[in-house]
Amino acid sequence: MKENFLDWSPSTDSLLKVKERELHAGLHSHISENERTADRILANRQFRIDALERILKEKGIRLKGEILEVGAGDGWCSAYIAKTKKEVRTIYTMECNEPAVTKLIPQTFQLLGIPDDKVVYVLGSFNNIVLKDKFDFVVAMGALHHSSNLKRTLSEIYSAIKPGGFLIAQEPYMADQTPNAFYYKQNDIEKNFNGYGRILNKERSDTFFRKCEYYAAGYHSGFDVSIIEIDQPIGPEKPANLILSMEKVTSEIGKTPVTTW
Ligand SMILES: C[S@@+](CC[C@H](N)C(=O)[O-])C[C@H]1O[C@@H](n2cnc3c(N)ncnc32)[C@H](O)[C@@H]1O
Repeated sequence: MKENFLDWSPSTDSLLKVKERELHAGLHSHISENERTADRILANRQFRIDALERILKEKGIRLKGEILEVGAGDGWCSAYIAKTKKEVRTIYTMECNEPAVTKLIPQTFQLLGIPDDKVVYVLGSFNNIVLKDKFDFVVAMGALHHSSNLKRTLSEIYSAIKPGGFLIAQEPYMADQTPNAFYYKQNDIEKNFNGYGRILNKERSDTFFRKCEYYAAGYHSGFDVSIIEIDQPIGPEKPANLILSMEKVTSEIGKTPVTTW
């Protein structure tokens, strides 16, 4: 049980829905109490590892310095970065629920045999990042689509990144032409999470934003945005996957983007 962690009080973030936080707290607590192995932790993660390596290679970026991972889940990506990216000095690994920060993520490092001496555990929300102009990179793996307000989340991440730093993310996305009806329908779907009861989608935040919404929210937050489509949406209802890099361009710091609304 990790007792030393930064507490940025995610429960005070009004954009983080209570059921979103509680559901993941329950899931993460449950996972940490069940038998876990290194193989199982890494199973199904190769897709995201490949996505991370691909965007770094295509943009000619080396992960280094101070990193913040938001919505880290069980912390596999922070562990991967700690193991493979030797120029990284510190990784702030953030989750919005306590079982993830105190039990699940430390357990992942332990099971994978990766020292966590570079890791700062953070209980916090990506809508309220306390450290400003601090990080060389913010990494989000399937986390941004849990935002209830993408512009707010990206603006907050922008303010946390150092001049010249980047947000790197892998997320699902929908075609730009996806009608609002799709989202209304999604919102009214009720899912049964084993052991946590039935939750309506609109009670939490799990949204397949359109690709154009990543562009708009990113540009309007001040970033320059680059998106690679890993695949394309099949039909009107199925999301595809993208990788994005957003750069906080040094010469533009302090300017209000002309096109923002
Ligand atoms: C789909 S999971 C992805 C987890 C992990 N990155 C992975 O690749 O497996 C999304 C995570 O975002 C977290 N999350 C949701 N809202 C958040 C917020 N406002 N701030 C930080 N994390 C949040 C959830 O608790 C959940 O663990």
